[in-house]
Amino acid sequence: MCGIVAYIGKRDVTPILIEGLKRLDYRGYDSAGLVIARDGKLTLRKSAGRIASLESKLDHSLDGSTIGVAHTRWATHGAPTDINAHPHTDQSGRIALVHNGIIENYRTLTRYLESEGVQVESETDTEVLAKLVGHFYEGCLEDAVRKALREVRGTFGIAAISAEEPDKLVAARRGSPLILGIGKEEFLIASDAAAIIQHTANVIYLEDNEVLVVDRDGYKTTNLDATPVTKEVEAIEWTLEQIELGGFSHFMRKEIYEQPEALRTCLRGRLDMDEARVQLGGLAHVARELIKAKRIILTGCGTAWHAALIGEYLIEELARIPCEVEYSSEFRYRNPIVEDGTVLISISQSGETIDTLAALREAKNKGAMALGVVNSVGSTIARETDAGVYLHVGPEIGVASTKAFVGQVTVLAMIAAFLGRRSHLSPAACDQYLRTLATVPDVIEKTLVLDEQCREIAAEYADAGNWLYLGRGLQYPIALEGALKLKEISYIHAEGLPAAEMKHGPIALISEDMPVVILAPRGHWYEKVIGNIEEVRSRGGRVIVVATEGDTEVAKLAEHVLFVPEIDELLAPLVTVVPLQMLAYHAAVLRGCDVDKPRNLAKAVTVE
Ligand code: G6P
Repeated sequence: MCGIVAYIGKRDVTPILIEGLKRLDYRGYDSAGLVIARDGKLTLRKSAGRIASLESKLDHSLDGSTIGVAHTRWATHGAPTDINAHPHTDQSGRIALVHNGIIENYRTLTRYLESEGVQVESETDTEVLAKLVGHFYEGCLEDAVRKALREVRGTFGIAAISAEEPDKLVAARRGSPLILGIGKEEFLIASDAAAIIQHTANVIYLEDNEVLVVDRDGYKTTNLDATPVTKEVEAIEWTLEQIELGGFSHFMRKEIYEQPEALRTCLRGRLDMDEARVQLGGLAHVARELIKAKRIILTGCGTAWHAALIGEYLIEELARIPCEVEYSSEFRYRNPIVEDGTVLISISQSGETIDTLAALREAKNKGAMALGVVNSVGSTIARETDAGVYLHVGPEIGVASTKAFVGQVTVLAMIAAFLGRRSHLSPAACDQYLRTLATVPDVIEKTLVLDEQCREIAAEYADAGNWLYLGRGLQYPIALEGALKLKEISYIHAEGLPAAEMKHGPIALISEDMPVVILAPRGHWYEKVIGNIEEVRSRGGRVIVVATEGDTEVAKLAEHVLFVPEIDELLAPLVTVVPLQMLAYHAAVLRGCDVDKPRNLAKAVTVE
């Protein structure tokens, strides 16, 4: 979704802003713009479409400036047009502002501004905010920004600049992330570390309702009442190489291949084989309270919600604590019952998904203890939870989540053992489980050889309009995840179902035009799933099975078999998901789709 990058320092600003916008490109956007200040005036350039079309509007008149603000917009209010693109300016044209988030009361504010004789030209909520800042401006940008923001309902991450104060940037946040990068004689403000990392690893994270003022000598942070706030400088742990393609054709493909190494990092130092237990530093201070949990609610959106379904299964199985899984977006609006002893687990790659954040706040308001299972260090969800476990799988750039999903499942698998070992799980059973968990990276590595076979299968069915994915038990969430991956990036309609539900309706869809992917690794659902394969076959469906290596029986029933190495069924979802990621990837490539930036999707959904 929308991205912000701003710079003040000694270097020519335009190339830095453009480079920063390109680093944020993966988040999804539909227009871009920038503003620079020089010789007491602002120069703006904006364009609908890709960053390249903004670049085509740049000329030498922008050269030589060392301060500026840039933005990629993901349309919410108003179509993606040049005029709606950010930055927006105030009524004097002397103040420019970019904004992530949504100003909910923008209509009321527009009416107020109009009654004061100020006209709003675009359809955006952001322009209203720019005009409001202009309305309050009396020679001090930070004061005007504070005054304007005190009138605003909704969410914002903003960066503003004034021609009257050409050596100053003002930024603020509520609900939409912003960080300050502190370099050598230069500062960057961005909504995502990816835009900063090549310049500096030293950052401060703004909290909600904080205002940041940066000039050539330094920076200061205050709250909306101008009370100073002291911030700690933290280090970004990601490297530049991690956010570059490094020879791969797409980030999604790179991230699929990174999964073994990503999980090795995720597991590192956390499996204590001597004591047959899991060490999770982020949970240590709440462990006593946690094992008394009467109920665990797992929430997330999209892929994270699928990970939650697996987490539910594993926690119930190993720790015998009742769990339930909720879409964050549903939980936040339905007055959920949160009794004493309820623990909420928020699962989020980005740590910024607005619905997951709102669900977390709702649960905390009602007295629940909140844990985070998050990838982005320092993200809002990570900071607002009482305790948590980071995935440590490195930055994920492809919009379709792959390595973050296996990271989420792996962390939940560790949390299940962490809790289980403190209650029901015997040292011997835990020992065996952890030994298997430790092998998962190697097993996934072996699974990657299916890549070419997945490409061939995808080529055979890439023109089919509909696919079904079936699984039982722990493989049911993988059926959902396989279908979601295909939908997201290849735009083929796909549905994931519990295999037994098929006969209650979807079976009517089966025909020889319908590829049906069936998850049938060995385990205690195996015989039942074989029955489901027969049902599909006898109606002419085209069966693609994911099965355990050496299973010659299933091979007789299916048109295609993707054999994965044998692994305990509790952890098998981490392995069976891999060929489904590859199938989706190849189907999208073969159909000419933009794999890493699928249409209409955003990497982090920071607005409702
Ligand atoms: C978006 C992405 C999905 C992701 C979901 C949750 O919809 O396109 O890939 O699963 O958000 O994101 P989160 O960052 O909270 O895991």
